[in-house]
Amino acid sequence: EMMKDVLGLTLLENKLMERFNLTKVIVVSGDSDQSPWVKKEMGRACVTCIKERLNGKNIVAVTGGTTLAAVAEMMTPDSKNRDILFVPARGGLGETVENQANTICAKMAERASGNYRLLHVPDQLSKDAYQSIIAEPHIKELLEMMRSPSMVVHGIGDAKTMAERRRTSEQDFNKIEKGNAVGEAFGYYFDQEGKIIHKVQTVGIQIDDIAEMSNVMAVAGGASKAKAIKAYLKQSLDSVLITDEGAANELIRD
Ligand code: BG6
Repeated sequence: EMMKDVLGLTLLENKLMERFNLTKVIVVSGDSDQSPWVKKEMGRACVTCIKERLNGKNIVAVTGGTTLAAVAEMMTPDSKNRDILFVPARGGLGETVENQANTICAKMAERASGNYRLLHVPDQLSKDAYQSIIAEPHIKELLEMMRSPSMVVHGIGDAKTMAERRRTSEQDFNKIEKGNAVGEAFGYYFDQEGKIIHKVQTVGIQIDDIAEMSNVMAVAGGASKAKAIKAYLKQSLDSVLITDEGAANELIRD
């Protein structure tokens, strides 16, 4: 029974790699829409992936979200004691405290026995105040690390769910809806062809920065996120996809 299960997952991983032209896919069993522990399993798989990619000095940029919170929960210290600095990937994206990139970043560092840097720049500032804050040397240095980390670990959200969860203005909400956005990552909303419909204005990593990077890990599962994951994969970023059976079964369906 167990062997059959493992083979089934490997088959799903191979199908996804082929269909979406990915170099690495991990599928954990179950559907995180149905069972909360599946998110933790994705978290565990992600932690393994992070550790496989650690080098001498590491800067790991992380986004917010409940999935990344599960990754943080499963984090453990590096057995080889390598240097890890966790930073948020982007500025405030309107999440509640426990799901904010800053919080997740601190939690991951604590569990990994690593270090972290937090970004304290409010997004709703006048242009002048904003410009002078980001010119502060320690903030400038952090922003540079956020844009060129050695690894990025991020979630993918359903567009409408994310627009609702953030305090999205009516104007932006309409834009997201009219543009038929289905997926969201790093504050970018995509339609099913992968076209960028809207982008949340904030500092930190941009999609063009990610396109240049080799260690990008996307963690997202649940059958309800299949469309969102598909839209994100249209970006053709060289990402590792960590997902679950629920999403994987939908993704290979035509
Ligand atoms: C947010 C990220 O914090 O989490 C988004 O900014 C991401 O880019 C989202 O899509 C995913 O959230 P969850 O809870 O579905 O893992």
